[in-house]
Amino acid sequence: MTTKPKYTLETRAGDCREHGRFPDHLVQQFGTDPVWFGCPRCHFDARHSQDLDQRFQAVNIQRGRLLNERLLDTDIPDRFMGCTLANWNAATPAQGQALAACGGFVEAFDENFLVGRSAMLLGTVGTGKTHLGTAMLQAVIREYALEGLRGLYATAGSIIRDVKATFGNRGRTEADVYEDLIRPDLLVIDEVGVQHGTDFERQVLFEVINGRYERVKPTIVVSNLGVTELRQCLGDRAVDRLRDKSGIVVVFRWASARGDV
Ligand SMILES: Nc1ncnc2c1ncn2[C@@H]1O[C@H](COP(=O)(O)OP(=O)(O)O)[C@@H](O)[C@H]1O
Ligand SMILES: [Mg+2]
Ligand SMILES: [Zn+2]
Repeated sequence: MTTKPKYTLETRAGDCREHGRFPDHLVQQFGTDPVWFGCPRCHFDARHSQDLDQRFQAVNIQRGRLLNERLLDTDIPDRFMGCTLANWNAATPAQGQALAACGGFVEAFDENFLVGRSAMLLGTVGTGKTHLGTAMLQAVIREYALEGLRGLYATAGSIIRDVKATFGNRGRTEADVYEDLIRPDLLVIDEVGVQHGTDFERQVLFEVINGRYERVKPTIVVSNLGVTELRQCLGDRAVDRLRDKSGIVVVFRWASARGDV
């Protein structure tokens, strides 16, 4: 209760009329402004109050704090924190299909999680793949975080950099990097194929995809490649893992929303 929250940006001395001095923490929020947490004793008392309304409110605040931490734990980049399924605009039938497929994957996540069903979001640049991929992750966390589910977003480039960074380094090992990518219940790997597809990169990504497959955990792969090119980039075995249990493929093929292509 008195420990410092994980995403504390700043700490100052607080003074509670009832409980005296306490360290007040300014905590980062997922997609909104940071919040001062206030007196921890007051929060504790409210959560255990005889007054049901007060207790209900305080318990909700506590749940919100846990959810916020799990959302930040996903490493979804700041610029995609506001991306949801609801604010992804489907103007054409093809876009409507993509949105329905991604929304459907989230709605059926109970079952997808049970069988380890994955998804691939494939298509050209600026078509809203990262928006929808991060929105799916965010929606799953919002629905299941309080049950203990955890999720993570990473780019293929960052994964490869993290593995390379362990070489000749005595801190984090290569196995640690893989474990951190395999442990989350849902992983989004973005920007697959932006790299040049060396054997090393293929091996690294296979290790992650296969490790998750073996533990029956869903993975969402986002790429600018088509299925055939993706097979060349990741290898047939990795793509077969992603297609297992009828893993879904969502194709994004329309003009860029960025207007730069
Ligand atoms: N259908 C859409 N509705 C709302 N915003 C969109 C849509 N498509 C793209 N965008 C926005 O355009 C920008 C580029 O989309 P992004 O998801 O990064 O594309 P991609 O990953 O396919 O290259 C983002 O800011 C995203 O929120
Ligand atoms: Mg993208
Ligand atoms: Zn107090």
